[in-house]
Amino acid sequence: MIATQTISISRVKESRIREVDFANIPFGRIYTDHMFIADYRNGEWRNFRIIPYGYIPISPATPALHYGQAIFEGMKAYRGPEGEALVFRPHDNWMRMNISGERMCMPHIPEELFMESLATLIDLDRAWIPSTPGASLYIRPFMFSADEYIGIKASTDFTFMIILCPVGAYYSTPVKVRIETRYTRAIEGGTGYAKAGGNYGGAIYPAKLAQDKGYHQLIWTDGKTHEYIEESGTMNVAFIMNDTLVTPALTDTILAGITRDSVIKLAKSWGWKVEERKISVRELIEGLERGTVTEAFGMGTAATIAPIELIGYGEKDYKLPPVSERKYGNRILEELDGIKRGIKPDPFNWVVRM
Ligand code: COI
Repeated sequence: MIATQTISISRVKESRIREVDFANIPFGRIYTDHMFIADYRNGEWRNFRIIPYGYIPISPATPALHYGQAIFEGMKAYRGPEGEALVFRPHDNWMRMNISGERMCMPHIPEELFMESLATLIDLDRAWIPSTPGASLYIRPFMFSADEYIGIKASTDFTFMIILCPVGAYYSTPVKVRIETRYTRAIEGGTGYAKAGGNYGGAIYPAKLAQDKGYHQLIWTDGKTHEYIEESGTMNVAFIMNDTLVTPALTDTILAGITRDSVIKLAKSWGWKVEERKISVRELIEGLERGTVTEAFGMGTAATIAPIELIGYGEKDYKLPPVSERKYGNRILEELDGIKRGIKPDPFNWVVRM
C-alpha cells in the first residue's frame, strides 16, 4: 500500500482555472493545475510527486521518443450531485494499462499506486471537474521508457504520469467513417490490443487521407484479408442489424474497450440480442443496402457513444437513418451518461467516488 503521505505535493502558486471558459470546452487542449509523476528505478516505483502541470525534462535518447515504448489510458470523471468526483471504471483502466505494459515490456503498476495517485490528484484539482452538460474531466495516465540508451533492449527506467483535462465532446456531430481496406492498424501477434502510442501514431496518415475526403475517421479491417471489420481509430464499433446489437469479437488486433464492455453488459441486462462475432465488410454493406443495418455507433471513453451517420466504402457512401430515430444507440447513450453522472442507478457498481 502506498500511503497518501508518501506522495509529495507541490501546489501551484495561483490556479489557472479562472482563464477557462467552462461553457466552451474543447477536447484535449486545457490541462488542470497539477500532474502526478512516479519514477521506476532499480526495479521499483518511487519518488511519487504531484507538481504544477508543465513541461518535463527527458533525455533526448529516451527509447519512448525513438522506439515508441509508451502506453496510455483514458478515463473520465464527472461531477456528482454533491460535488464529488465520479470516476467511471478506473479499476478496468488500471488492469488494461498493465496488459498494455506487459506487451510493451514495461513494469507492472500496482493497483494502490494507480488508484491513490489518481484520487490524490483529483482531490487537488476537484474544482476543474466541469458541471456543464456534455463535459467531463478526462484523465490520461501514461507510462514511457525513461532510459538514456539509444540501443534496442528492455528498458530499466520508466516514468508513470497522470494529467487531467476538462473536456467537451470529442465528436461534436454524428460521425462519418470510411472502411479502410489498404492500410492496416494491427496484425495478429502485434500490439493492436495494447493501448500503445505507436498504434495511434501509425494510424494518423491513413486517417488523414480519409479526413481530406470529408470523413472523420476510419473503420479498420483485419490486416490479412481486409474482409472483416475491426475497430475505428478512437473507438470500438457496433451495429444494429436486424434488431440485434452486433460488434466485432475481441481478438489481439482489437482494443478491449471499457465503453464497449459497458454497452454489451447493459444491452444484455435489458434482454437485447447481442452478438460478438466476426462481421464481414460484405455483410455490413449488404445490410446497409437492404436497410437491415439501422444503426451504427462508436464506443469509447473520449468518444462516448458516437452515432455514425455515414459509412464510406470504395467509391460509395452509405447513409444511416437519422440519429433521432435510433432507439438502441440513444437508449445506451442516455443510460450510460446517467450512470456516469450519478443520476441513474449503477447496477454494475462501475462508478468510484473520489
Ligand atoms: C479514449 O477514448 O480515451 C482514447 O484513448 C481515444 C483517443 C483520444 C486516442
